[in-house]
Amino acid sequence: MTNTNTKNTTLKLNNGREIPVIGLGTYKLFKSRPGEVETAIKIAIDAGYRHFDCAWFYGNEAEVGTAIRKKIAEGKVKREELFITSKLWNNFHRKDRVVPMLKETLSSLKLDYLDLYLIHWPFAFKESASLWPIDEGESAFSDIDYLETWQGMEECLNLGLTKSIGVSNFNAEQIDRLLKNCKVKPVCNQVEVNPNLNQKKLIEFCRSKDIVVVGYCPLGRSEYAGLPGFPDPTILDPKVAEIGKKYNKTPAQVVLNYLVSLGISVIPKSVTKSRILENINIFDFTLAAEDLSVPRFLQ
Ligand SMILES: NC(=O)c1ccc[n+]([C@@H]2O[C@H](COP(=O)([O-])OP(=O)(O)OC[C@H]3O[C@@H](n4cnc5c(N)ncnc54)[C@H](OP(=O)(O)O)[C@@H]3O)[C@@H](O)[C@H]2O)c1
Repeated sequence: MTNTNTKNTTLKLNNGREIPVIGLGTYKLFKSRPGEVETAIKIAIDAGYRHFDCAWFYGNEAEVGTAIRKKIAEGKVKREELFITSKLWNNFHRKDRVVPMLKETLSSLKLDYLDLYLIHWPFAFKESASLWPIDEGESAFSDIDYLETWQGMEECLNLGLTKSIGVSNFNAEQIDRLLKNCKVKPVCNQVEVNPNLNQKKLIEFCRSKDIVVVGYCPLGRSEYAGLPGFPDPTILDPKVAEIGKKYNKTPAQVVLNYLVSLGISVIPKSVTKSRILENINIFDFTLAAEDLSVPRFLQ
């Protein structure tokens, strides 16, 4: 890790570039009201966030782009100081669709290039007008191999449309197969990581291949708390609140600090000003060993 103890602490990617360890998630296609994400991005840039996690699927890249453009115009930030990620959706895995889809994303984001473009999932959907095509009650998959898709990703890199390429939601076997069949190695694997799903083995595997893990849902999808099938997020655990009191930190700050200590980047999402500020204020304390022995963190 480089530049420790600042908001812009970064991790080195295998192509020599750097990714900030903290970023702002922008997902909530159906939950954020129009304009909310634009406001969140502006607050985040003012608060020091430089890493933004976007996706074509989230349906709000135009809003993200408007916010970025305004902040650049105001002189608050320069394009080269930002790290912008987007992702290729499952309907567009055919090799010849990858470059056009990235161009569409760039046009929405009002940018000339991305910092990181990811294959969102290792499987493809049937090409269809529906974002999530269904056949007889089941997701309708196509048999396009992610190795074919990766060739399109490499083309994006060669054309200068993105500085780095990577994957999301890939397991170790899928990464291994990709590494054996690629010209350019992925720099990153973005997967769910939170104390309920600490991904210890996958993080170790990725580190052994010089691939950075970016952890999504770091706060454990607190909006689903109490629903069947969703474990209670750690930020609602009273023991974590107790630990936080020792450091004068909130449960979310304790959890994010713990995750960053695993050597990964995290992308908590919020459209609430106080939480956006809270989630980046995590670099001025180190959890003691006794605090890391809370069962939650060991699962
Ligand atoms: N690659 C993938 O397949 C994939 C999948 C899922 C997510 N992602 C990415 O990862 C990002 C984060 O994941 P996520 O949005 O699902 O989950 P998350 O970041 O773990 O949790 C977001 C939820 O926590 C709330 N929250 C934020 N900060 C908080 C705090 N300090 N205290 C209490 N609650 C807080 C947010 O509410 P408010 O917004 O109302 O403040 C929101 O309801 C996404 O936005 C997206 O960019 C990627």
